[in-house]
Amino acid sequence: MRAMAPTTTFPAAADASEIAGPVPIIRLQQVTKIFYAEDVETHALADIDLEIRPGDYVAVAGPSGCGKSTLLSILGLLDTPTEGRYWLNGQPVEGLSFKERAHARNRSIGFIFQSFNLIGDLSVAENVELPLTYRGMRPAERRPRVQAALDRVGMSHRAKHLPGQLSGGQQQRVAVARAVVGEPSILLCDEPTGNLDSKNGALVMDLLRELHEAGSTLCMVTHDPRYAGRAQRTIHLFDGRLVEGISDQETSSTVESYRRPTS
Ligand SMILES: Nc1ncnc2c1ncn2[C@@H]1O[C@H](COP(=O)(O)OP(=O)(O)O)[C@@H](O)[C@H]1O
Ligand SMILES: [Mg+2]
Repeated sequence: MRAMAPTTTFPAAADASEIAGPVPIIRLQQVTKIFYAEDVETHALADIDLEIRPGDYVAVAGPSGCGKSTLLSILGLLDTPTEGRYWLNGQPVEGLSFKERAHARNRSIGFIFQSFNLIGDLSVAENVELPLTYRGMRPAERRPRVQAALDRVGMSHRAKHLPGQLSGGQQQRVAVARAVVGEPSILLCDEPTGNLDSKNGALVMDLLRELHEAGSTLCMVTHDPRYAGRAQRTIHLFDGRLVEGISDQETSSTVESYRRPTS
């Protein structure tokens, strides 16, 4: 049993566990996003608290329009919260200049989008090389990394092809190579199988699982419950709110505590 200490100004248990664990890669506190258009305010996100730690595989689920992509854009420094705080690798991102944000994005974030977003007139290898080129890395250093990333996704044999010469599944594998080539802290995937048939979708999901097993941290948006089930933890968004932000383990213990007889 814990010794009885004065309870008045003692920090909450949540703070103690933060000190104990590794620094979260992502930490959001009370994040809100409001889009203002003519006469219309859209509350896309409200009061989001979220932590993602190294090695996590988090799925973000919820119906269309509930704020999943908005959340991912904020996590990926493509957009800013209206209110609330965001720490990336322990650093608050609010004070970063435009240039510092671009730098942090390039170093820490790997993106995989539904629509692949490869550049059509660059070869497969050049597409994968791009994040390293932006970083100012020398060509001699870039080449082996590009090769290794393409090997990892099984696409080295198409290095000189243009994206338009590949199937959707192959294009998404190239996009995965581009996302991992710079060894980012976290991979953000927005419905990565949304434009793929089920066979290619399954191949891309297998690839993401392999990356996770090799140590990558993933946050993946999906509206497909079959794929959400592959993550360690699923968070559910509904109308911009997190309706369940706790692990399955915590959920079951919470349920247990409700089941306990109260008399
Ligand atoms: N740039 C924007 N301007 C205005 N409203 C937006 C913008 N982006 C998203 N929204 C609105 O915010 C809400 C959440 O959108 P989104 O994050 O794309 O949802 P999801 O990815 O879950 O389908 C929706 O109501 C959408 O119409
Ligand atoms: Mg979306």
